Amino acid sequence: MKLLLPIICHIVTLTESTLNVHNKMYTQLDATSPCIVRLNGSQSFGCTSSRNGNVGVIHIVHNDTDVLWVTNATRTDNYIAAMFLDMFSFENLKKLNDSEHVTGVLLMQKRIRSKVSNFSPEDKCPNRYSGLAAPPREETVCDATSPWNPTANEISMHKWKMPIFFSADNRTISQVEDCFRKHNLPLDNQADRPLCALKMSAHMFGSVDSTTCIRRSSTAYNINPIRYCDPLGDENIYVPAVPFDRYKKPKKYVIVAARLDSTSFFYSLAPGALSAATSLVTLLLTSSLLIKLVREADVNTIQQNVLFILFNGEAYDYIGSSRVAYDMDKGQFPFKEDPITKEQVSLFVELSQLWNNQSVTYHVYKNEDPIVTKFINTFRNQANHMNFAVDLKQKIGNVMPPASFQSFLATKPTLPGFVFASYDQHFQNRFYHSLYDDSMNVGYEYTNGSGIVSPNSLQKFVANFSTVLAYTLFEVIGSAAKSGSRLPEVVGIADELLHCYVDTMKCRFFADAGFDVNSLPSSKLDLYVGVMGIRNQITTLTKLTLVHLTGRKTEAKSSEECLSKVQNTTYTVWFTDNSVCLESAVNVSEALSPAFVIPEYKLSEGVYPSWTESSWQTIDVRMFLKPSPKYEWLVFVIGNSVMIASILTVFWIKHHARELFNYPHLITAANI
Ligand SMILES: *[C@@H]1O[C@H](CO)[C@@H](O)[C@H](O)[C@H]1NC(C)=O
Ligand SMILES: *[C@@H]1O[C@H](CO)[C@@H](O)[C@H](O)[C@H]1NC(C)=O
Ligand SMILES: *[C@@H]1O[C@H](CO)[C@@H](O)[C@H](O)[C@H]1NC(C)=O
Ligand SMILES: *[C@@H]1O[C@H](CO)[C@@H](O)[C@H](O)[C@H]1NC(C)=O
Ligand SMILES: *[C@@H]1O[C@H](CO)[C@@H](O)[C@H](O)[C@H]1NC(C)=O
Repeated sequence: MKLLLPIICHIVTLTESTLNVHNKMYTQLDATSPCIVRLNGSQSFGCTSSRNGNVGVIHIVHNDTDVLWVTNATRTDNYIAAMFLDMFSFENLKKLNDSEHVTGVLLMQKRIRSKVSNFSPEDKCPNRYSGLAAPPREETVCDATSPWNPTANEISMHKWKMPIFFSADNRTISQVEDCFRKHNLPLDNQADRPLCALKMSAHMFGSVDSTTCIRRSSTAYNINPIRYCDPLGDENIYVPAVPFDRYKKPKKYVIVAARLDSTSFFYSLAPGALSAATSLVTLLLTSSLLIKLVREADVNTIQQNVLFILFNGEAYDYIGSSRVAYDMDKGQFPFKEDPITKEQVSLFVELSQLWNNQSVTYHVYKNEDPIVTKFINTFRNQANHMNFAVDLKQKIGNVMPPASFQSFLATKPTLPGFVFASYDQHFQNRFYHSLYDDSMNVGYEYTNGSGIVSPNSLQKFVANFSTVLAYTLFEVIGSAAKSGSRLPEVVGIADELLHCYVDTMKCRFFADAGFDVNSLPSSKLDLYVGVMGIRNQITTLTKLTLVHLTGRKTEAKSSEECLSKVQNTTYTVWFTDNSVCLESAVNVSEALSPAFVIPEYKLSEGVYPSWTESSWQTIDVRMFLKPSPKYEWLVFVIGNSVMIASILTVFWIKHHARELFNYPHLITAANI
């Protein structure tokens, strides 16, 4: 017993020192944004590592010579190519992917962004198989010879055999560069030395396609079902200008829509400033202004309602809008009791990639309905009235930009409507659906309440545009034309809102809307829709913001009182710390593709979006010194020799045991 304690102590110290050795061998790197696997009904896209992670010697790729070097067929080791954005092209990735010796890629981004004029990992024709292009219509809405997103490199549209990670952490980048310089240079005689290597783990469980992967996830004989993939989806957010229950009269609706989501090649890095945020903020401001105007107006003058909708999951074949369009056709949007049909929609107005860039184009599908013409004329008059110099261009044709409107046109091609966009033939956005679609891309600078806004700034444009749009809508739904301006106030709110949606979620407006911004784990903005069932932070925040912008203040001393006050209406309620009780008509609808709702629907049909995201267990990048191949060979040879020698010795000893140990006689059980 006395002996036991020191032995235990000894074991503990031994384990500890082993752990320390382990820590010294591996350096955990701050590179937590991998490219992941997503699947549609017939294919998979993205990157995965092998089950146990991919190992490769670091090679920093600065130019084509380095690409040639690392992909050279005579290499005996495996390599991970570390590079900056200027080398991160489709052609280079393809060469690396084709090489047997390249096991991973690390994209590095230093604080000061390298000068790259465009980077869009998206398709040149985003959502080219959905909306009007989906079966049964299968129309060509994007001209392949002159696509909407011409500079796109389409790397998101492919399957890569290796993990691809992103790091913007300066310390990580220096660690990688230092280790490479110290151990891997000069490049000759690498075989004689231990080399600096990376191990990248990002094994994706989902493979083949959504159909296969969902079937595997839910097989009946699977006792402990693993989820290999989950459908993409979240919530659409909507608010009617006139609460649904209040005035049963207005049975016509103008829908004003924008998208809530964006995406990018790397997980959790989808800022979507121009892809989504600018239009989203314009919609928020417009709804706020219009709802105030409607409230102050004489009820009898309101002939139509306006429904503001933010669609979610639009980056993936219009998940949110295809569901709303489907529900409308089934008579269950927003609720079965009082559904809105497509016949009740008098006009569809979509805001898409709005930007303070000279002109705005309104895209019309095939024919311009007189309702659209009237709306545009009203808009022009309102803009003139406010001295808002916007150059409105018209584009009519069989092609249609990527837009939620397409989901509605797919089953009702005559639906009057149009898409307001900052572009006419090609996206102005050269960083569409990428991690660089941020404040720098839209040239936004927060004024922080200083009130000093340059006339051509984004906040000024957004404020002007939403004011004109709100007054236009008001004129269109009511008999009385009205104009006027709350512009200075609106510019201030536009600035605060853009700061939230373009710069950081830890912003004044979200705090004012009643959200504890300090509780946000990171201030990084991510508009990626994610999987169904996990509520996105940005969805929650947008809901609150909309309640804050459109809600009506009522008297209440406690949250209970606030709740009870509005029980007999269908308003939703929000109660903040500073004793404000808000009644608002904001509500949400499920943004899950009809493909996952319709029983017996085959995901390969392609009528509805069939996107799923693969699940995974570990996302991890480590750096370590890999012993030189010669050394490893030596260890192997010595190990083998020792083993062979011991086997021979044992055999020999066993054979000569009698003589060696001089047994007097055999001991048997009977003798004892
Ligand atoms: C999946 O994507 C591929 C390539 O983008 C496309 O050809 C195919 O039609 C899509 N499948 C479905 C079911 O949407
Ligand atoms: C390519 O980059 C390497 C360093 O990574 C440098 O030594 C070499 O001179 C460069 N080659 C060319 C052609 O620029
Ligand atoms: C990358 O390599 C894998 C496996 O060799 C292949 O299936 C895939 O098509 C390649 N990707 C590209 C974009 O060439
Ligand atoms: C905005 O101004 C306040 C004080 O006026 C300051 O504390 C805050 O750091 C500023 N925010 C930004 C993002 O500049
Ligand atoms: C919100 O929508 C749901 C159905 O999606 C409905 O049951 C609920 O009553 C709505 N709430 C309000 C306040 O309109």
